Amino acid sequence: MTMSIMRGFVVAMVVIFSVLLSLNNPRGESERAFLSASSSAQEPLVNLVSLASSDGGQDFVTEEMSDGVQSDLEYDFYRETCPEAETIVRSTMAQIYSQQKNVSAQLLRLFFHDCFIQGCDASVLLDDSNGNKNHSIEKQAVPNKTLKGFENVDLIKEVLENVCPGVVSCADILALATRDGIVLADGPFYPVFTGRRDSTMSYHDEALAEIPKPDDNITQTLHLFSVRGFSDRETVSLLGAHNIGKIGCEFIQARLNNFKGTGKPDPTVSPSFLKEMRFVCDDNGTRSSQKSPAPGPTRGLMRERSSGLRGMPYFQQLSSSVPSGRGFDTHYYQSLLKGRGLLFADQQLMANERTARLVRAYASDDGSTFRMDFARAMMKMSKLKAANGSPGQVRVDCSLPLQTS
Ligand SMILES: *[C@@H]1O[C@H](CO)[C@@H](O)[C@H](O)[C@H]1NC(C)=O
Ligand SMILES: *[C@@H]1O[C@H](CO)[C@@H](O)[C@H](O)[C@H]1NC(C)=O
Ligand SMILES: *[C@@H]1O[C@H](CO)[C@@H](O)[C@H](O)[C@H]1NC(C)=O
Ligand SMILES: *[C@@H]1O[C@H](CO)[C@@H](O)[C@H](O)[C@H]1NC(C)=O
Ligand SMILES: *[C@@H]1O[C@H](CO)[C@@H](O)[C@H](O)[C@H]1NC(C)=O
Repeated sequence: MTMSIMRGFVVAMVVIFSVLLSLNNPRGESERAFLSASSSAQEPLVNLVSLASSDGGQDFVTEEMSDGVQSDLEYDFYRETCPEAETIVRSTMAQIYSQQKNVSAQLLRLFFHDCFIQGCDASVLLDDSNGNKNHSIEKQAVPNKTLKGFENVDLIKEVLENVCPGVVSCADILALATRDGIVLADGPFYPVFTGRRDSTMSYHDEALAEIPKPDDNITQTLHLFSVRGFSDRETVSLLGAHNIGKIGCEFIQARLNNFKGTGKPDPTVSPSFLKEMRFVCDDNGTRSSQKSPAPGPTRGLMRERSSGLRGMPYFQQLSSSVPSGRGFDTHYYQSLLKGRGLLFADQQLMANERTARLVRAYASDDGSTFRMDFARAMMKMSKLKAANGSPGQVRVDCSLPLQTS
């Protein structure tokens, strides 16, 4: 039994590596990053095997065949129609990143929210859904307008429109830019296939119901990821995206004084950690908007804007005791081991035996195991497909559907 799981795992790894290695990179800019990702990925095999046999190696074998995966994507889809497309995305991202390191985390979150709802179709970027003035769009549902980075996608799109008008979809731009942002933040490289089409619709109600929430318990989190075809192991690795960026105070505040309507703090937070989180995040919505807020909807908005800039990172602040080399290593998992998860949903990974075992495994090496799993889970996520079979379009403005007349 264990032997066959291990054999399945080894076969799957060989297949995956040969797929990865056979992809020829037309321009070679990312080759170095890719090579370093694959060579470091070979080191922790012992860890991986123990992870695989404890978590059920069959996840690896079946994942490429699961439903809801876009099979019509190609490597370098724009090689004829816009050969410079991927280079342009990469160099524009490098420019943005040099000014604004937080772009990587912003796009990663945008991309996740996009792919989770009806596939990676740039539906999350829409301001208006084909004349639907209902405001029933994902942007406004997805945890309360706290997504950021739209302007960076628009900037990349603008550069591309100047070179090859109307060719490169916003969905592909987001997928490529997210990957490039991860690499810039010293995360792992993974190949991104292209040829996505942009949706004409946005899906507010699905976003509200199906995006995992910061205060979800482990059962809910695993369920919502499994609906999208992710195994427990892939779920735990994807949450490792929290290694970079800040967790907004608006999500942390919910644990500080009135957790889930109890009128008390989240009982799973230690007193000393609660104090730290309160120091950064507990202003009862008033500290940074000093003036007495206007009544009505503006009030909520002001609070959101001001608190939107504050937050706590896993990287550095939480783990000064952990030697830190790069953004994408084991900070997140080390923090969870210490009970210092910033979101309830993060810390819940320790409340389930299987996910806790994965957290311990990811925290136990130099980050290589996590990085390889994360890269593979991101490849899988970037292929999530809309169920509605609509042909889609290539938007010119990423926030507006094309008027089809
Ligand atoms: C992102 O970084 C830029 C510059 O480094 C900063 O001005 C901006 O406030 C940051 N945004 C957020 C949401 O933290
Ligand atoms: C407004 O939203 C409701 C439910 O979300 C939907 O049934 C209705 O068709 C929408 N209105 C327009 C004009 O699309
Ligand atoms: C914020 O999100 C919650 C559910 O996550 C929803 O009930 C609420 O209406 C949203 N608020 C706004 C202002 O969008
Ligand atoms: C998780 O949350 C769901 C929905 O609130 C609840 O039904 C379930 O009992 C919770 N599970 C645990 C283990 O707390
Ligand atoms: C925030 O409100 C809670 C309960 O209302 C109170 O105990 C706490 O002292 C307040 N914190 C600040 C910083 O005002």
